[in-house]
Amino acid sequence: MNFLQLFSDLEPLKRIDRVQTRFYYEGMVDVVFFTDAEFELYKALIYRESGITFTATNRSILESRLKEQLRTLGIDSVRAHYAKISSNKEALKSFLDSITTNLTRFFRNQAHFDALENHVIPELIKIKQGSNTIKIWSAGCSTGEEPYTIAMLLSEILPPLWKYEILASDISLKCLMTAKEGFYTDSRVVGIPDKYLKKYFDKVEGGYKVHADLMSKIRFDYHNLANDSGQRNLDLVFCRNVIIYFDETAQEAVINRFWDSMANKSFLFIGHSESLFGMKTKFEFVKTQWATFYRKYT
Ligand SMILES: C[S@@+](CC[C@H](N)C(=O)[O-])C[C@H]1O[C@@H](n2cnc3c(N)ncnc32)[C@H](O)[C@@H]1O
Repeated sequence: MNFLQLFSDLEPLKRIDRVQTRFYYEGMVDVVFFTDAEFELYKALIYRESGITFTATNRSILESRLKEQLRTLGIDSVRAHYAKISSNKEALKSFLDSITTNLTRFFRNQAHFDALENHVIPELIKIKQGSNTIKIWSAGCSTGEEPYTIAMLLSEILPPLWKYEILASDISLKCLMTAKEGFYTDSRVVGIPDKYLKKYFDKVEGGYKVHADLMSKIRFDYHNLANDSGQRNLDLVFCRNVIIYFDETAQEAVINRFWDSMANKSFLFIGHSESLFGMKTKFEFVKTQWATFYRKYT
C-alpha cells in the first residue's frame, strides 16, 4: 500500500486528533481533504437538493468552497460537516448558499434588454388586452442586478397605465440580503447608463442606493428551483446563467416547471451560453435581430 492509498483508506479526519487535523489542513489538504467516496456523497446530496451538478472537472471548486465552509464553521471533519447538513435543514441551506456562483451585473447581455424593449414588451401589450400588469420572474437573481435592470427598463418603456411586478428569487440568502438592501459600490454600478443611475439611485457614501419606489416593484424571495414555485400566469421569466450549473435532467425539469408557471402566451430568457436544444419542452425558439429567446404560445 502506498502513502496515498493509506490516507484515502482512512476515514478522513475522523480517527485523528485536532493536532493532526491541523497538520492535515496545512500540509496535506489536496491529498486527503476529500476522498472520492466523500465527493460522491456531497455530489449526490447537492444534486438532489438543488440540481447543481459537480463532476470531476469542477470538483476542485466544490473542494475549495467546502474548505472555506469548514473553516468558517470551525468544523474539522468533512464527515461531521456532512452529518450536520444531512440532518439540519438550515445548515443545508447555508451550505448550498456557500457553493453557488453568484456572478452578475447590471444590464448583463444588453441584447436581451434590446429584445425585451423592441419585441417582447410590444408583443405582451398586444396580447394582454384587458389586463395592464406584466408579471415577471427573475429566477436565480443573485444580488439583484438583473431584476433592478428589468425594473428600470420597464419603468421607462411601459405606456401610461401599464404596471409591472417582479418576483426575484434565489437559493442564496446572502445574495438576497444584498439585493433587498439595494446598495451597490461604485464599481458595481458600472454598466448602468447615466440617465438611469441619476433617476433610480441615490449617491451615498461608497456607492449607490436604489430608490425605494423602484424597490417596491420587486419582491425578493428565497426559492430553490429544484421545487415548484407555485407561480402561475407569468408573462416573462428570466432565468439566465443558472441552469448552466445543472445537468440535462435537472435543466429539463426546471424548464418544464417554468412552462407550468407561465401564461399561455409568454416569454422566457435564458443565458446566452445556455440552450433548450435537445430538451423535451414545448417552448418555441425565437430569433430576432436583437437576441434569441423562447416563447410559450398555446
Ligand atoms: C451566475 S448567477 C446569475 C445571476 C443572474 N441571473 C445573471 O444572469 O446575472 C446564478 C444564480 O443562480 C442561483 N442558483 C443556483 N442554483 C439555484 C437553485 N437550485 N435555485 C435557485 N437559485 C439557484 C445562484 O445562487 C446564483 O445566484
